Amino acid sequence: MSPLIDICPLAELPPGSKRLVEHEDLEIGVVNCAGQIFAIEDRCSHDDGELVDGELDETDCSIECPRHGSKFDLRTGKPMNLPAYVPVDTFPVVVEDGVIRVEVD
Ligand code: FES
Repeated sequence: MSPLIDICPLAELPPGSKRLVEHEDLEIGVVNCAGQIFAIEDRCSHDDGELVDGELDETDCSIECPRHGSKFDLRTGKPMNLPAYVPVDTFPVVVEDGVIRVEVD
């Protein structure tokens, strides 16, 4: 079974907010999009931009890479426009006892 890492209490990540967590050699952005929690690797597949610094669009749950503007679907990690064309890793999220946890491999 994959390990679950504790992120924070759900109450500390309200809708529209993001946070960056580190786990071993991974940096993971955890995002509350209109009440749904997503976790995505904080590294753009185009040229390593830091996705969590990008703009969150809560209407379609995407985040825009601040470097060259590719938007990524937070649900799937797939890019929605160029220049990126390779998906970014996403991670399953659970909320247990009011705490956000992310499953990492
Ligand atoms: S580094 Fe993200 S679009 Fe170029």
